[in-house]
Amino acid sequence: MTTKRTQIWQIPRGSYDTDGDLARNPKIRKAAAIIKQGGLVAFPTETVYGLGADGLAEKAVASIFAAKGRPSDNPLILHIAELSVLDQLVGSVPQSAKHLMELFWPGPLTLVLPKLPAVPMITTGGLPSVAVRMPNHPIASALIKAAGTPLAAPSANTSGRPSPTRAEHVVSDLMGKIDVILDGGPTGLGVESTVLDCTGPTPKILRPGGVDKEALEDALGTCVQLSAELGKEIGSFPSHKYGHYAPNAPTAVVLGEPQGLFENLAAKAQELTCKGEQVGLMISRETMQYWQDQAVDFSHWQVVVMGSRTNLAEVGTAVYEGLRTLDAHHVTQILLESVPTQGLGFAIMNRLLKAADFWTVGE
Ligand code: TXA
Ligand code: MG
Repeated sequence: MTTKRTQIWQIPRGSYDTDGDLARNPKIRKAAAIIKQGGLVAFPTETVYGLGADGLAEKAVASIFAAKGRPSDNPLILHIAELSVLDQLVGSVPQSAKHLMELFWPGPLTLVLPKLPAVPMITTGGLPSVAVRMPNHPIASALIKAAGTPLAAPSANTSGRPSPTRAEHVVSDLMGKIDVILDGGPTGLGVESTVLDCTGPTPKILRPGGVDKEALEDALGTCVQLSAELGKEIGSFPSHKYGHYAPNAPTAVVLGEPQGLFENLAAKAQELTCKGEQVGLMISRETMQYWQDQAVDFSHWQVVVMGSRTNLAEVGTAVYEGLRTLDAHHVTQILLESVPTQGLGFAIMNRLLKAADFWTVGE
């Protein structure tokens, strides 16, 4: 692959008030022109940064897979900014999916629907269905509208690395491999969209994310399934097809309930230290408080505090960055604190377990 001169263009939050301001923004217009010519542009969404290309142009989509080092059978999400575009992309849309669009779009919900021929097979990894979402971020919407085409956009990380929640993360993974990085500051949610398969009789969650199962069930008034893989996640061995979100050091998720969990984290870290490991931990504020109260000596561990166990939205924004921080400190063993699996916690635990390749300790 030839090296590209990646340009980084800042579009700070305070630099625009209205969608019109962004539509006129020369950086958005130039980035859109690059997309129309088949180029690659990373842009912020409300979940994580995406790596966008013209989703209907085979060559452009092929270059996304190359830049990320992504297996070609792992399908991409098409990002749209207006509902009217859907007619060209998907066939029959069930009433339930229409209802979810009304309620959750723009937002972190991706719907998998039967694809129409205009969507190239390379975009869907050879599948007869296509994943579509309408991101809730002014820069993303302005870019999609200016490009005048749906953007195929996976998370803008190297395949297998933690997803990027800041432009800096995209820089560290994809510099020299893509044309432009639109830096719109940190993303809001921090975990990716929920992927919901709407091609069968009952909607099925393929990936938990920003919209939780309970919210989908409330909206539809029926139950929503979990994919077979998600149903048996905790305590299982790697069953997933693609490596994901993984830090470089071996990683384990420590299970349990407070305070046993807080104690277990310290005990496990101590045990590893005695074996000569450089230990990195990602823990809650509650664990940190407990350690301070109990005078636990954590001075020789690399500790990232991911937020409070009672505020999972805060934890969501911190998880991927925390994994990257621990990596940057070259620890040899990482321990991650488990979180309650209600609401957004289910998606967060899913990411923690994948980072650990489903290796758990405790309980
Ligand atoms: O929040 C997000 O969804 C972010 C932002 C950038 O929009 N995007 C993202 O894309 O996370 P990516 O490529 O990293 O993850 C897309 C997920 C993958 O797990 C993929 O297998 C699944 O969606 N997917 C895409 N198309 C599918 C299809 N037709 N059928 C089943 N799964 C599909
Ligand atoms: Mg991804």
